[in-house]
Amino acid sequence: MSGPGRREAALRAVDELDALEAEGELARLAQEIARHDLLYHQQDAPEIADSAYDALKRRNEAIERRFPQLMRADSPTRRVGAAPAAGFAKLRHDVPMLSLDNAFSAAEVDEFIERIRRFLALDAETAIAFSAEPKIDGLSMSLRFEQGRFVRGATRGDGEEGEDVTANLLAIPEIPRRLSGDGWPDLLEIRGEVYMDRAEFGRLNEARREAGEPVFANPRNAAAGSVRQLDPAVTAQRPLRFFGYAWGAVSVRDWTTHGQFLARLRDWGVPVNPQTRRCEGAADLIAFYEHIQRERPRLGYDIDGVVYKTDRIDWQERLGFVSRSPRWALAHKFPAEQARTRLRGIFIQVGRTGALTPVAELEPITVGGVVVARATLHNEDEIARKDLRVGDMVIVQRAGDVIPQILAHVPEERPAAAPPFTFPDLCPVCGAHAIRPEGEAIRRCTGGLTCAAQATERLRHFVSRGAFDIEGLGDKHIEAFFADGLVRAPGDIFRLRRRAAEIETREGWGGKSVERLLAAIEARRRIPLDRFVFALGIRQVGEATAKLLARHYVTIEAWRDAMVAAAGDEAGDAAQTLGTIDQVGPALVADIRAFFGEPHNRKTIADLLGEVTVEPAPQPRAASSPVAGKTVVFTGTLETMSRQEAKARAEALGANVAGSVSRKTDYVVIGADAGSKAAKARELGVATLTEQEWLDLSGAG
Ligand code: IVH
Repeated sequence: MSGPGRREAALRAVDELDALEAEGELARLAQEIARHDLLYHQQDAPEIADSAYDALKRRNEAIERRFPQLMRADSPTRRVGAAPAAGFAKLRHDVPMLSLDNAFSAAEVDEFIERIRRFLALDAETAIAFSAEPKIDGLSMSLRFEQGRFVRGATRGDGEEGEDVTANLLAIPEIPRRLSGDGWPDLLEIRGEVYMDRAEFGRLNEARREAGEPVFANPRNAAAGSVRQLDPAVTAQRPLRFFGYAWGAVSVRDWTTHGQFLARLRDWGVPVNPQTRRCEGAADLIAFYEHIQRERPRLGYDIDGVVYKTDRIDWQERLGFVSRSPRWALAHKFPAEQARTRLRGIFIQVGRTGALTPVAELEPITVGGVVVARATLHNEDEIARKDLRVGDMVIVQRAGDVIPQILAHVPEERPAAAPPFTFPDLCPVCGAHAIRPEGEAIRRCTGGLTCAAQATERLRHFVSRGAFDIEGLGDKHIEAFFADGLVRAPGDIFRLRRRAAEIETREGWGGKSVERLLAAIEARRRIPLDRFVFALGIRQVGEATAKLLARHYVTIEAWRDAMVAAAGDEAGDAAQTLGTIDQVGPALVADIRAFFGEPHNRKTIADLLGEVTVEPAPQPRAASSPVAGKTVVFTGTLETMSRQEAKARAEALGANVAGSVSRKTDYVVIGADAGSKAAKARELGVATLTEQEWLDLSGAG
């Protein structure tokens, strides 16, 4: 994140903005404020102080006061209470989306069955069959299929009304655009859960951490944040999945049991949880519950219990609902996984970008089958908020089953002499000052590459999976090679062959392992531009942004020259062009300029380019689509789709979608009530298209 000083330096007085600049800024502010809303409300991980957030809102309002006609549909001022999902249209559910009654004990399961028996007046001999399924800890979704085609999808919302997230759902490969097979009703609403695998969640967070972006607390939040954000292209980068488990509105129903329905779903190409079992009677249900509880760590995704559903649909219909929950279904929840242990110490990790992250060292304790010895404390405010002190008895929870968290300390068990924790203002690794810019949550070491922690973290990032992906060069090797001066900068990795004899004599190495490592390094002498860009470890430039930049600039030379020029002249063409790339906001521009402003970074790149060949970014589907590689701007209201969807589709065809019109724009697609962008296009002589012309040209019509 850039400091407020830097951000402000890039801001012009509202009075001086012209309409085009105002429009661009409103777009960026809407996006930025929405992001902070999400961080604050949904992820409980605010990145900026309330005062800085207020400043963003005030600027947005001031610009809107001067240019009321430019107020956006997703303007932050239109949102009450800044609900995180503002910006999505509301969709009413034809059939409400309900919740489930919870049970925590076997006795409650017995009661549930007895209630059904009583309600249906069944005698003790009549067997009641259930469909027993894992309860996925994701977010529930209603998918509407008409004539077998996916037409719309919405979140649960309050059960009556959800948010239209169709464009984002289209980016989830497991959700079929068309049902396969046949026999589906003309109208079918499939309900189910969008979720993220734990492994994918770990990878996503790792990439975010490396990019200096805030991490998600658990897979559920990651899935929710991915679906309920405004850009489908971002959703497409997130590894989301889906399980179907219920239906809403339906034109004809030819299944008579829940089990049959699930089998149909499977035939129609909708993922159904393979753990699902048919059970009869309480003992069977409890056995299933215990089985799933044992399997839980191996499932690969988070669940928080199991769900029992009366299998016969005629019985379901007779049983009906009590207030918001069906009488025919029950959620049997797993107990929360919490434990108490001592906080032995708090140590500080220094990351690639110099961020000081406090980590709790715990008396090892088993939480939900896993030994926990450490927990992240996020930042210094978090420690203060929870008033955590070394020696405290703390309550530990495995949130989302993976990242252990400290919920609170136990006041009665605090040792008498425990002083409050003082966060260091010097880097614990290199001793340089650690500074926390006003309005930011993170304190950073100012040592740069003279700080061994930052230098090695950058090298680690450089060889990591999404970057150069050099197998066999693990964290320990990087640290050891760095300490002994074998590798100080990325380019050194490609010169290791000269030190082969030296490495071979090191502990843990032999002729074969050295050869393997050198071969792995050689294999990476050619690298795609996006990976190269990502590998540099520029703040905020994660894999998605790196792809964006690579696609825009195509070659390493073009990109580097433009970035060097942008660093040298904030107001120049290069910096302006960078800022017009869609999703590239002022903070990102500032971070990239800061990176290229550092001579040692330019030297690192030059040195590397002496060792490796960077492949230009492929222009996707260049052969098949005439819009591949073209820069397109959408403006005004489109008729056949939302602007979000238009953008996602254009990008899928290989076009670059920009947020504002410049001389580099190839087409401006003009919808109804288009404003200044249309005028600007005409002024610059950029080709303008109607929506239909665009559909014809892109072959999407
Ligand atoms: S059935 C009318 N089945 O749990 C009943 N729900 O606590 C409709 N959930 O909102 C829900 N896994 O988000 C059902 N296999 C499953 C589920 C499941 C997760 C969620 C769902 C629902 C919540 C209720």
